[in-house]
Amino acid sequence: MTNQLIPGHADPILLTGATGYIGGRLLQALEHSGYRVRCLARRPEALRTRVASATEIVKGDCLDPASLEPAMHGVYTAYYLVHSMGSVGRFEEEDRIAAQNFAKAAKAAGVRRIVYLGGLGEDREELSAHLRSRHEVADVLRSSGVPTVEFRASIVIGSGSLSFEMIRALVQRLPVMICPRWVSVKAQPIAVEDVVAYLMAALQLPEEGAVFEIGGTDQVSYGDIMREYARQCGLRRWMISVPVLTPRLSSLWLALVTPLYARVGRKLIDSLKNQTLVTDTAALAVFPLKPRGMPEAIARALINEDREFAQTRWSDALSPAGQPRSWGGVHFGTRIVDSRQAVVPVAVEQAFKPIVRIGGSTGWYFGNLLWRLRGVLDLLVGGVGLRRGRRDPKHLQVGETLDCWRVEAIDPHRRLRLAAEMKLPGRAWLQFDVEPAQGGSVIRQTAIFDPAGLAGLGYWYLLYPVHKWMFNGMLQAIAKAAVHEGRGAVVA
Ligand SMILES: NC(=O)c1ccc[n+]([C@@H]2O[C@H](COP(=O)([O-])OP(=O)(O)OC[C@H]3O[C@@H](n4cnc5c(N)ncnc54)[C@H](OP(=O)(O)O)[C@@H]3O)[C@@H](O)[C@H]2O)c1
Repeated sequence: MTNQLIPGHADPILLTGATGYIGGRLLQALEHSGYRVRCLARRPEALRTRVASATEIVKGDCLDPASLEPAMHGVYTAYYLVHSMGSVGRFEEEDRIAAQNFAKAAKAAGVRRIVYLGGLGEDREELSAHLRSRHEVADVLRSSGVPTVEFRASIVIGSGSLSFEMIRALVQRLPVMICPRWVSVKAQPIAVEDVVAYLMAALQLPEEGAVFEIGGTDQVSYGDIMREYARQCGLRRWMISVPVLTPRLSSLWLALVTPLYARVGRKLIDSLKNQTLVTDTAALAVFPLKPRGMPEAIARALINEDREFAQTRWSDALSPAGQPRSWGGVHFGTRIVDSRQAVVPVAVEQAFKPIVRIGGSTGWYFGNLLWRLRGVLDLLVGGVGLRRGRRDPKHLQVGETLDCWRVEAIDPHRRLRLAAEMKLPGRAWLQFDVEPAQGGSVIRQTAIFDPAGLAGLGYWYLLYPVHKWMFNGMLQAIAKAAVHEGRGAVVA
């Protein structure tokens, strides 16, 4: 069905939670499909750079009823993708009040449909506070009288999804896992792309309430998900089952291993005692969608992550307003990034010349002896070493080898990205970007490391002093070469 045939297609769609994981993905899909989107956000500034120019942003908070009225004006469908798990207060109460305010405002404004994503889990079981609250929110929305489409999902797989990130953090950090009972509890994970497809398809449903349980094709334990993630990342993990560890103990353990997710994780981990399986398969009959299985969902998450990461503009991401510089590099998700820049008084074409000649007989501009030693060590452990050299001293093509690297991207005069092929406990890239600057150009050199487990982290931090010295020396030498060769060249 094209957008034009969908009832209310011309009215704005209200999206709450656009700064969140699911909401952020849905925002892109709605914009891409040409819908008029209005986002309700507590911090509009966090969204401004992420929305299309036609998308409206209204400042509002679901805990502040007065702020909801302007957001609801003229809306046909309103998405409710909000939860307060990150809050320091009582999240159940906050979530109940937020849903009550939202539902009341939607009813008063004549909104025709609410679409909500909650959690799976059988009401007759003793549910965790988190899952109970997710079901309660759906009931509150429904009781407003506005037709409410509720989707219930288990763990959503995609990079950035809290439940997936928690699992990933445990697998990455722990070579041996003492597995409590919850590791064998069954879930039915779903890929984030499939969740977004369901949320989009809800726009085409008739104007009536419904509950749809959604999940991928596999019913698996959390342990299975961990094993598959480890397999795809090339990590060997030992999982030892113990019947005693309670979710509470696990949450303390989680806080120790992954402090970043500790607060939210504690609430989430309580839910792991409940099975989250699809028991009603109506969604498969109603929607023309075929959700993926768990291994494919993980593979896609990893590929998407690489793609999104590769598009990061380091100059923006590491600007004074962005990530602060810290010893050992800056963390972006699972990656560690060391980015440094040099300003040179030559045009970008000139600044790029020494970069495109790197490796082979030119060498690596600094610490060539150490590079050679690294190559020998690599050969000794069965790696490719430096012996491959380069095909052409002046030109590079995507896909060709360059010493112990492979050219992953090249944008003439602007960017060169090399992916490491030496033996490493993780994946590594070296990227050079050249941009025009006042009076010349900026050369940005970025080393990126995606550590595999603890060995990877140990490698990065132990060798960081040496790498830092090498990175710095290499950039300075490249800048010097650019200036030396470009003497007399006119800067545009
Ligand atoms: N991720 C999963 O694995 C998963 C699985 C199953 C179901 N779900 C469901 O999907 C929905 C969205 O989850 P998510 O993972 O995308 O969550 P998330 O990343 O934590 O995002 C939550 C969103 O809610 C917003 N929010 C919180 N309190 C608000 C308030 N008072 N007023 C306005 N906005 C408020 C947050 O905005 P701020 O930026 O202002 O904080 C944020 O945009 C939830 O209902 C969740 O239960 C998620």
